[in-house]
Amino acid sequence: MRRKVSIIGAGNVGASTAQRILEKELANVVLVDVVEGLPQGKALDLAESAPVEGFDCFSIGTNTYEDTANSDVVVITAGLARKPGMSRDDLIMANFEIVRSVTAEVSKKSPSSVIIIVTNPMDVMTYVAAVESRFPKNRVIGMGGILDSARFRAFISMELGVSIENIHAMVLGGHGDDMVPLPRYTTVAGIPIIELIPSDKIDAIIKRTRDGGAEIVGLLKTGSAYYAPSSAVVEMVEAIIKDKKKILPCAAYLDGRYGVRGIYAGVPVKLGRGGVEDILELKLTDEEMAAFLRSVDSVRKGIEKLKMDVTGG
Ligand code: APR
Repeated sequence: MRRKVSIIGAGNVGASTAQRILEKELANVVLVDVVEGLPQGKALDLAESAPVEGFDCFSIGTNTYEDTANSDVVVITAGLARKPGMSRDDLIMANFEIVRSVTAEVSKKSPSSVIIIVTNPMDVMTYVAAVESRFPKNRVIGMGGILDSARFRAFISMELGVSIENIHAMVLGGHGDDMVPLPRYTTVAGIPIIELIPSDKIDAIIKRTRDGGAEIVGLLKTGSAYYAPSSAVVEMVEAIIKDKKKILPCAAYLDGRYGVRGIYAGVPVKLGRGGVEDILELKLTDEEMAAFLRSVDSVRKGIEKLKMDVTGG
């Protein structure tokens, strides 16, 4: 039986995610948006590309949640995107209300689904969705680490002139300005980049990775990145639907791992049908751990801004 993925928010990230899922024939797609006609128009346009692209999965667009029932995976991209000069945290209050209301709807209709959160600030919004859905925490996951690692890999490939297929990278922590790219765990054909690239160049690549989202916002001016974010979402969707047990950096709920409790942050996880099936604990140096904890602290501050509302107090 064909799988079903519902994507809430039929904007740039949502529509690109739908396109990639359909073209890979991973699942049928339901696109939901508050704007009337937008999800219907994009879903129909995608369906009309099927004869040329040669996929048999279908897409529908809607402004209600009926058709999302019994989804295997729900991707939440609904919310506002950044404008130049804004940080991801500037979106917190507006996107909080949106993610909370969307999660209430999708969790009722698809109680066995895995929810992937894209809306920024992503780590905080993932926490919001986990609380609102009351799902087991391993079935609510944030998309950030794959995107940040993809940017890191792209810049390393540009620096060394080698295939991106040879490059594996690891970025830990929150999907924010203080994310933690880890050169020691980043390799080219198995060789750590610290043996291949001078340290000042690595520092510059790390800085560009951290600012990667803002670099795109600065160029686009009217919105934020969506090609690389949608690719990252689809890698997660594929790992879940195909039960691949793939190791990927994602925002997962930490309950003591890395010495952190009660928060979502980016760590390497094993992704399969059950969502996060395991969390891998990397051995970090004191310096790396301090950077990770700083990043986690920023996420915690974001959550604290919402605490009264999230806990209903
Ligand atoms: N329910 C459903 N859809 C909603 C809701 C809601 N309550 N509120 C807003 N939307 C829709 C908007 O109508 C819009 O079509 O979410 C969509 C967001 O699309 P874009 O503005 O194109 O933003 P996008 O680039 O897709 O980014 C979405 O992902 O990367 C993050 O920071 C980014 O938070 C942003 C999110």
